[in-house]
Amino acid sequence: MHKDIESVLVSEKQLEKIVNTLAKQIEKDYNDKEFMMIGLLKGSVAFMADLMKKIRLDFSIDFMVASSYGSGTESSGKIKIISDVTIPVKDMDILIVEDIVDSGNTLNFICNYLVTKGAKSVRVATLCDKPARRKVPFTPDYIGTEIPDEFIVGYGLDYDEKYRNLPYIGVLKRSVYE
Ligand code: IMP
Ligand code: MG
Repeated sequence: MHKDIESVLVSEKQLEKIVNTLAKQIEKDYNDKEFMMIGLLKGSVAFMADLMKKIRLDFSIDFMVASSYGSGTESSGKIKIISDVTIPVKDMDILIVEDIVDSGNTLNFICNYLVTKGAKSVRVATLCDKPARRKVPFTPDYIGTEIPDEFIVGYGLDYDEKYRNLPYIGVLKRSVYE
């Protein structure tokens, strides 16, 4: 285990199971749809790479970069789109892929934005959900696992741009950020 990790919260094995379960649900729901998967960078990188390979349907993928955090552990609430999709979303069924829903600010903003741009439907698949931390009401359509109110890293999730490459999700030692 990495020296900055307090404990492993979701192991590699558990991640694989979660991804398989979500892929099956998505495959069933999107079977008759022409859909597009949009990953929110950079946190969704590991999850999306694994998830998309398990979905045996035809679909396109694209990415967006939104910022709210800076280098702290609290959302600022002000969301900015740093990089937008390159494929037009008009009349498309969109599945957003996200690492974690925390305050709900990011997804709330992004979903509204895509609807404004003419998307036919917008759903969200998140690997982790921290419902205890919501500041705006938001319910993801597909949830991998619920997480207690701890700051977690690994499998795409970072603190100050570190730990994204860990193959598991772990609780970050408080001494690293306090
Ligand atoms: P929200 O807008 O507060 O829902 O924040 C969403 C974003 O904050 C996520 O996409 C993550 O990038 C980041 N985030 C929230 N909680 C954590 C965490 O525990 N570890 C790492 N990043 C987090
Ligand atoms: Mg993120």
